[in-house]
Amino acid sequence: MPFNSTTQEVPSFTTEIAELTRPIYQKIRDVIPEEEWPTHAPYIAAINALKLECDAVVMAHNYQTPEIFHGVADFTGDSLALARQAVSTSAAIIVLCGVHFMAETAKILNPEKTVLIPDLDAGCSLASSITAADVRLLKERYPGRPIVTYVNTSAAVKAECDICCTSSNALKVVESLKSPEVIFLPDEYLAGYVASQTDVKIISWHGHCEVHERFTGQELRAYRETSPDISILAHPECPPDVLSEADYVGSTAGMIKHVKSIGVGRVVMVTECSMSDNVAVECPDVDFVRPCNLCPHMKRITLPKILSSLRNLEYQVQVEASTAAQARRSLERMIQLG
Ligand code: 13P
Ligand code: SF4
Repeated sequence: MPFNSTTQEVPSFTTEIAELTRPIYQKIRDVIPEEEWPTHAPYIAAINALKLECDAVVMAHNYQTPEIFHGVADFTGDSLALARQAVSTSAAIIVLCGVHFMAETAKILNPEKTVLIPDLDAGCSLASSITAADVRLLKERYPGRPIVTYVNTSAAVKAECDICCTSSNALKVVESLKSPEVIFLPDEYLAGYVASQTDVKIISWHGHCEVHERFTGQELRAYRETSPDISILAHPECPPDVLSEADYVGSTAGMIKHVKSIGVGRVVMVTECSMSDNVAVECPDVDFVRPCNLCPHMKRITLPKILSSLRNLEYQVQVEASTAAQARRSLERMIQLG
């Protein structure tokens, strides 16, 4: 074992740890109350030390909480950025702080690396909305149509499809197929959003994100009434009446880039709560209105679980070899599109 996996004690907050983690706290003090820091800091110090010892990197999705996102992550980003980072990292171990399909994607692209997810139950309502058997039935029903699958799916579903996409490249992927009609799985709202931007006919599925489907257009109109200058940014997993109220629609990374380009003013990010906290750290002149819809799956990942994951090398993500090979083809086709 490359590091001491037998040490399981809970780290404590010492003056040495307070000193070591002070620069991190200075950065995130506006989004984490001072009383909470003694519970996070010892874990942050222990995780950062253990990562070096065992040649591991922590990759965190934009929805992870600020103590993870700013405290222990080596790479942060949207689904596409994390998939790309998984290909380019030279570390032996990847700890994926996100949901299961993200860790599975990292493993498919890196079969020789150890990919860990700190909680195996970190799922996704979109990924669980469709099975490989459903895709086979769609192929029988619509023969010859190319199939695009959102990365928010299982490896088995990816293996049945022609190409993957994420929310940042969905339109580009659909149009790259040069087909008048495309099956787009499983997010009905993302499919509808893509359909509104292209002449390609889209056949969709009825999957929804349990976080984004809760936002309403009415809620956004109320923000505009109280703050006529507000910039509304929405994730394309939101329902159509929400998207039609938005000034900008894009992936989590696209939204972050857009807020940074605005730089000052009032903004509402219509997406998971932690995004605003994470971006607020880098955009002190933006006043965020924070409707809070939590993703319960993303929130399963915590600092104590990340430390335990590294200490015990669990939970290791495994994908059956022939499924992985087929799914890799769909992912690599997407990545090659650039
Ligand atoms: P992004 O690829 O935009 O980060 O979206 C992932 C996701 O799960 C959004 O709910
Ligand atoms: Fe899945 Fe929605 Fe959570 Fe993203 S926010 S991981 S799409 S349930």
